[in-house]
Amino acid sequence: MMSLPIFCTVADLRTQVGDWRRQGLTVALVPTMGALHEGHLTLIRRGLALADKVVASVFVNPTQFGPNEDFAAYPRRVSEDAALLQGAGASGLFAPTVAEMYPDGFVTTITVAGLSEGLCGTFRPGHFDGVATVVAKLLLQVGPDVALFGEKDYQQLQVIKRLVRDLDIPVRIEGVPTVREADGLALSSRNAYLSAEERAIAPSIHRTLSAMAEALRAGADVASQEAWGKAQLLAAGFASVDYLEVRAADGLALLLTVDRSARILVAARLGKARLLDNIPV
Ligand code: PAJ
Repeated sequence: MMSLPIFCTVADLRTQVGDWRRQGLTVALVPTMGALHEGHLTLIRRGLALADKVVASVFVNPTQFGPNEDFAAYPRRVSEDAALLQGAGASGLFAPTVAEMYPDGFVTTITVAGLSEGLCGTFRPGHFDGVATVVAKLLLQVGPDVALFGEKDYQQLQVIKRLVRDLDIPVRIEGVPTVREADGLALSSRNAYLSAEERAIAPSIHRTLSAMAEALRAGADVASQEAWGKAQLLAAGFASVDYLEVRAADGLALLLTVDRSARILVAARLGKARLLDNIPV
């Protein structure tokens, strides 16, 4: 098998994408921060179903981490990532340095107002500005026909859809359902932070969300379900629940009753990890 081409500069990446374009090939982009798992690889495979070539990016983006967050500790293993990408059939890996993405004098920030507030935005101030800015850059650097993002980060997916719409970035954004372990835990690079004992507690997130969805479909009250779910997670052993909320699936408006397509979203802390999950009602 030919080894996976790795591009470290925007110029080299554009040369390759330009070659593909001249051959009439379509291109998909899968942005990641690496430490790849089956969730990321599912995005790659979906990309291959939608386009001729799939570029993955691996970039641990400093601007989306807060000062007391895990930027330094975030797992970095680019050579393993490259092997996994090659196995999944990716056509190239874009792995820029921080200096390539944010050269001296970089001052531009994109804010997607509204959607970036609340939920994770409350607990990670500036996080979605960092995400929106780096994703806009990646989309402009690659110029893909389609870019794929996981529903695992549901608020992020909403922010990116709005960003692309508002700025007329010519790309289709494709959301991909969350890939889970057999016990329901959503795959995440941050699951590596869990001890064996915490790992046994973690699936209670998905169990709790599933029970809430069922109760809400049966007509249960939103506020009492949110309170019930938080109590369940604390009783299961979570240290704290940042939020557990029922929101409109499209646009994330607050809901008092489930009178339209809804989503239950949660962030909860367990040991060194902050686990995210969400499911449709
Ligand atoms: P990262 O956490 O590496 O995730 C990269 C992509 O994989 C995101 O679109 C995320 O939603 C998706 N993903 C992660 N776990 C998944 C799972 N279990 N099932 C399905 N998809 C999953 O999200 C980021 O990186 C960054 O914020 C990024 C968009 C790359 C910008 O820096």
